Amino acid sequence: MISVAIDGPAGAGKSTISKIVAKELGFIYVDTGALYRAIGLYVLNKGLDTKSAEQVDSCLPEVKVELKFVEGVQHVFLNDVDVSDDIRTAPVSMAASNVSAIPKVREFLFNLQRSFAKTDNVVMDGRDIGTVVLPNADLKIFLTASPEDRAKRRYDEMIAKGQDVVFADVLEDLKQRDYNDSHREIAPLKPADDSVLVDTTGNTLEQSVELLVNTVRTKLKLK
Ligand code: DC
Repeated sequence: MISVAIDGPAGAGKSTISKIVAKELGFIYVDTGALYRAIGLYVLNKGLDTKSAEQVDSCLPEVKVELKFVEGVQHVFLNDVDVSDDIRTAPVSMAASNVSAIPKVREFLFNLQRSFAKTDNVVMDGRDIGTVVLPNADLKIFLTASPEDRAKRRYDEMIAKGQDVVFADVLEDLKQRDYNDSHREIAPLKPADDSVLVDTTGNTLEQSVELLVNTVRTKLKLK
């Protein structure tokens, strides 16, 4: 099985670009952030503190998270309910970042993430795929861009969905999440030593996709 790990901070375009790359290669695309988001959503819905390891740990036995692929598109199920849309809100983003710093949550999701790479060729995106989940991935990419560029993309997406947001808040949330994700004790966001750094600052989506597809083809020696 071939695996491509794509890590990087929020809003670098990982999911959009990884999806297209996976399609080009005929691999399945696994968005691991969706798993952390599903747990964040569950904890929020229960009215618990997403930063409290004690509270979050205590509800893990009640949680079943699954990824299902419907015509190649990933759907995330939380206790048998498709929550693929519900997990894409600002509060859930922050909740996901909070619960992801809790060791038992990472442990809980570890085997599930690895299982995909055992049965399929994958493009998997997240924060610790190249460093922890798939340390033997055939190719590791660290995808990044300036905080302003990343916040602008997030802002445009949210506006397009009709959400009422202010750019300064989106930038602030993103910086907070960058800080959380790269300063936690367990599996912090950082490039794997053997990763290829791809910076998409100033690129259009098309340019970023082309850059990444070319990098993947060259590195994996595909046609
Ligand atoms: O990729 P995303 O924005 O959907 O991820 C949401 C949060 O989940 C992110 O802020 C940190 C956490 N996460 C993680 O810790 N490890 C991963 N492999 C993927 C996501």
